[in-house]
Amino acid sequence: MNTELFEINDENRNTDASKEAIERAGKILQGGGLVAFPTETVYGLGGDALNPESSRKIYAAKGRPSDNPLIVHICRWEDLSQIVKEIPETAKRLADAFWPGPLTMILEKSDKVPGETTGGLSTVAVRMPDDQTALALIRAAGGFIAAPSANVSGRPSPTLAKYVQEDLGGKVEMILDGGQACIGLESTIVDLTDKVPTILRPGYITKEMLSEILGEVETDRAILPEGSSQTPKAPGMKYRHYAPKAELTIIAGEEKAVIRKINELVAEAEKKGLRSGVIATETTMARYNASLVKNAGSREKEETVAKELYRILREFDEEEVDVIYSESFAESGIGQAVMNRLLKAAGHRVEEAGEP
Ligand code: TXA
Ligand code: MG
Repeated sequence: MNTELFEINDENRNTDASKEAIERAGKILQGGGLVAFPTETVYGLGGDALNPESSRKIYAAKGRPSDNPLIVHICRWEDLSQIVKEIPETAKRLADAFWPGPLTMILEKSDKVPGETTGGLSTVAVRMPDDQTALALIRAAGGFIAAPSANVSGRPSPTLAKYVQEDLGGKVEMILDGGQACIGLESTIVDLTDKVPTILRPGYITKEMLSEILGEVETDRAILPEGSSQTPKAPGMKYRHYAPKAELTIIAGEEKAVIRKINELVAEAEKKGLRSGVIATETTMARYNASLVKNAGSREKEETVAKELYRILREFDEEEVDVIYSESFAESGIGQAVMNRLLKAAGHRVEEAGEP
């Protein structure tokens, strides 16, 4: 299959060429084809959410197990009532506060949504993304796009169109390039079908932000460090995701001790002839001796780390490093989402740095 690549940026957004490209992409989706598109979190691999054949194609293109349900993306609040049984008060309040935005809600699905889209579940995940190209595309496609992250299963979610091209080139009809995703980690998922709203996947919208709107909010124990042996409620969270090819280890502890420990590990690795990479931060990166040291951003602003993490993991793949050592990040705010993804990428390998 020939994949058309079309870039939409702030300069050409309102030109006829861009509008026509989105119309063309909408037609592809309505005809049962696949289009990858930008969102503010990560790129999505879109198909018509109400067409079971499209969902089957999505699973095939990603190499994803078909029991792992897809998120349905909408562009108008009014459309929600078509795909869910009922709209609880909690959903209204969250939508007022956070849509369009990086929040996915789990609700009871209506008959209109095929089981192929929801992995056989009676619930559906819904999100209204905060990206102009995404919203225009959803409208052009008829209102409902099922879209997982646009990566091959097991690889980091793409934050740039070139990574979508790498993973899905030849497997989708079209890729819309909207530049770098501004958040860089997948949406927060909150389940509203239980008595107490429950976070199934941490993201940019934090527990504190949700609690401000809803009051009591729980976190699925399986996604907390102490619950890693339990089965997560979001089927996708059980897979070893976001994995770089190299073995990744997180080093935890006080800054000085972490730097010393990582430098020791790097020296050992290089003695064995292994190429090592380090995930560092603005203020620490100059203090490492590894062959490849990457600046993930600023510790004071962990959203910068969220934005760069997946790009860094992919770059280490391209550069064929054998082992990666990473500093660890806060377990609160957006840092919780960063740590959640980093722990998965590391297969939960964490070493304590010891005394400084
Ligand atoms: O930011 C995002 O959410 C991106 C962009 C493209 O919107 N999408 C994304 O989709 O991350 P995906 O398929 O990679 O992750 C969806 C997650 C999976 O872990 C899946 O198991 C969970 O959502 N999920 C979907 N429907 C669910 C449901 N009905 N109940 C529980 N979990 C569900
Ligand atoms: Mg994904």
